[in-house]
Amino acid sequence: MDRFIIEGNRNLSGKIQVSGAKNAILPAMATCLLAPGKSVLRNVPSLIDLKSMAHLLRVLGARVVYENGMMSIDSRDIVYNEAPYELVSKMRASIYVLGPLLARLGEARVSFPGGCAIGTRPVDLHLSALEALGATIEIEHGYIHATAEKLIGADIHFAKSSVGATINTLMAAVLAQGQTRLFNAAMEPEVDSTIDLLNKMGAKITGTGSTTLQIDGVEELFPVEMQMISDRIEAGTFLIAGAMSTQPVTVENLDPRHLDILLDKLRLAGCELDVQEKSITVIPPQVIKPVDILTLPYPGFPTDLQAQFTVLMSLADGSSYIEDTIFPDRFMHVAELNRLQANIRMERNIARVEGVPKLFGAEVMATDLRASAALVLAGMVAEGSTIVSRIYHIDRGYDRIEEKLNSIGAKIVREDA
Ligand code: EPZ
Repeated sequence: MDRFIIEGNRNLSGKIQVSGAKNAILPAMATCLLAPGKSVLRNVPSLIDLKSMAHLLRVLGARVVYENGMMSIDSRDIVYNEAPYELVSKMRASIYVLGPLLARLGEARVSFPGGCAIGTRPVDLHLSALEALGATIEIEHGYIHATAEKLIGADIHFAKSSVGATINTLMAAVLAQGQTRLFNAAMEPEVDSTIDLLNKMGAKITGTGSTTLQIDGVEELFPVEMQMISDRIEAGTFLIAGAMSTQPVTVENLDPRHLDILLDKLRLAGCELDVQEKSITVIPPQVIKPVDILTLPYPGFPTDLQAQFTVLMSLADGSSYIEDTIFPDRFMHVAELNRLQANIRMERNIARVEGVPKLFGAEVMATDLRASAALVLAGMVAEGSTIVSRIYHIDRGYDRIEEKLNSIGAKIVREDA
């Protein structure tokens, strides 16, 4: 199992590139099931989660070629309608095949996703929305079995804003008969990206960028080519790394419009930002100021940057509190950060962070994707060396993170333990 050996206290400076967005590409891959023929996605990084999804699509009968930043998916012959336990247990986003398989084949069996390191993560909203479209859903031996002779458009009010449920419902509703309206739909850029792709394929969806979406069902969709959006969470991770540096760091190939709230919080922390059309330069402060964070659905502060921002706050001159309303238990990184001599106390689901002047290297363990990224950032600024084990989590969502960070001055070595 690989681990990172990180030599801390390095000065970062220079330019770092952001890759395509994992959380937009995963649903895009599932969307390709809806358009028989060969679709091509570009700006696709090399990530374990995308390899897992490609494997699942191949199991279903698709031909997937994934190389050099490009993925082609030929979904002419989808012959199998089951997402098996072995694949879903590795990657929850496998649930994204439920809507498309149901819409295209009239039947789907997807292993029920279990809990994960960031919480219980139910899928009730996905299932009730598909039921509202006329599907029959049964839970059998750990599998969701969905059937529908014909999906029929409906009005669906989500009790909670959910990226996954919004996207799964969109992918089913595009081929439903008649009109569907989604209320309290999620507005994350990854939802917009899915809508873009579906509309390119011939779907009729309006309301992008709002919480109310209207879908007029069509008979069929057609394969297309699409450039995927850049990863706002990877971009945010690098901006936070820059905020803890002593020299300016420029993060390139991003969309600043997706990062508004993070940019506000970085300014409050004392950073100066030079925002261009596709890049942001962060000029770090002499003294990091404490800033409170409450994670919320987009355009609120993303839960996927909570752990990384906690590292920044652990070095602030004062105290801050961090609350995650999306995944209230997503604080496994706190105990690990305290091993690096951060001073963070959990009060129920709120992290009380007392800034310290320095972190000190130690051995720590990655628990999930974003917690791992946070530990890498912490290791980079800590005194001495830090060993982060179980870094397979980080390879799920960051493409060659150590190479990218080393290119701006970090010293991270990947080692097979
Ligand atoms: C997506 O997960 C992302 N995953 C997550 O990224 C991200 O943390 C999350 O959205 C929130 O932004 C992918 O895009 C593949 P949700 P998703 O449904 O869709 C509750 C990362 O690190 N809920 O928007 O599963 C849920 O418990 C990952 O890249 C229900 O109650 O998240 C949560 O409190 C981790 N019932 C809230 O809604 C449901 O049926 C929002 O979750 C579904 C969700």
